[in-house]
Amino acid sequence: MSKKVLIYGATGGIGTATAKKLAARGNRLHLVGRHADRLEALASDLNATFSCGDILSEGFIPQTVRDAGECIDGLVYAIGSITLKGLSRLTHADFIRDYEVNAVSAALAIQAALPALKKSPHAAVVLFSSIAASQGFGMHASIAMAKGALSSLTLSLAAELAPTIRVNAIAPSLTQTPLSQSLWQNETMAQSIAGLHPISRLGSSEDMAGLAAFLLSDEATWITGQIMGVDGGRSTLRVKG
Ligand SMILES: NC(=O)c1ccc[n+]([C@@H]2O[C@H](COP(=O)([O-])OP(=O)(O)OC[C@H]3O[C@@H](n4cnc5c(N)ncnc54)[C@H](OP(=O)(O)O)[C@@H]3O)[C@@H](O)[C@H]2O)c1
Repeated sequence: MSKKVLIYGATGGIGTATAKKLAARGNRLHLVGRHADRLEALASDLNATFSCGDILSEGFIPQTVRDAGECIDGLVYAIGSITLKGLSRLTHADFIRDYEVNAVSAALAIQAALPALKKSPHAAVVLFSSIAASQGFGMHASIAMAKGALSSLTLSLAAELAPTIRVNAIAPSLTQTPLSQSLWQNETMAQSIAGLHPISRLGSSEDMAGLAAFLLSDEATWITGQIMGVDGGRSTLRVKG
C-alpha cells in the first residue's frame, strides 16, 4: 500500500538512498533538507514535495509537518552530525550542537508529527543511532553521547506510542557518505577500518536504506523498540579470537 513518508536529511547519503528506495516502491514522499537546489532536484526526480531549512531554525519543524500533509504514515530522521575530537578539545557548543541535531530535534520532529502519525493505521518511525552508542570509540565522546540519547529515545517512545506508532532505530557502523568522508577518503585508512568488520567492507547508504524501508513497511508491523545494527557484524562478533 502506498504510504506518505516524511524524510529528514533527504539530501544526505542515507536519506537520499532511503527516499529513492521508498519512491521506487510507490510511496509518496515529503523531503526535508537544507540545500534548495539539491532538494528541488531530488524532489522533482521522485515526484515528491519538500521543505527547505535548518532543523535548528525556530518554527521550522512544525512547518515541515504542515507542509507534509494531514496524515503521515512514516517518519525517517536521517539528519546527523559528527564531531570527532578528544575530550580536551571538545567545547560546550560542540556537545550541545551534536545533542540538538541528533537527539533533541528528532524528538521534536516526532512530537510535531504525532497528530498526523496518529491518523495512519500503521505509522512507523525510523531513527539513526550509531555503533558508537553501544561500543566505546576514542574521539567520539560528543556524538556517542548524542546517539546514546537517541537510542534511549527510541525505546521510550516505542513504549509510549505502542500500539499506534512503531519506533525503531538503525545503528550503522562506518558508512560511506559525506558525513564520514574524513574517515574513509584515504584508501589505506578505509581498508584498515573495513578489516575491523567480520564482513570486511564499509557500509553503503543502500545497506541502511534497505532496512529503513523494511521497518516502515507492513512487513514489519510487529517490530518496535529495536535498535538494529547494520554494521557487518562489528558490534556483536569476534571472528579472530
Ligand atoms: N555515515 C556514517 O558512517 C554513519 C554512522 C553512524 C550513524 N550515521 C547516521 O546516519 C544518519 C544519516 O547520515 P549520513 O551518513 O547519510 O550523513 P550525510 O550524508 O551527511 O547526511 C546527513 C544529513 O543531515 C543533514 N543535516 C545536518 N545538520 C542539519 C541541520 N542542522 N539542519 C538540517 N539538516 C541537517 C545534512 O544536510 P546537508 O545535506 O544540507 O549537509 C545531510 O543531509 C545520521 O543520523 C548519522 O548520524 C551515519
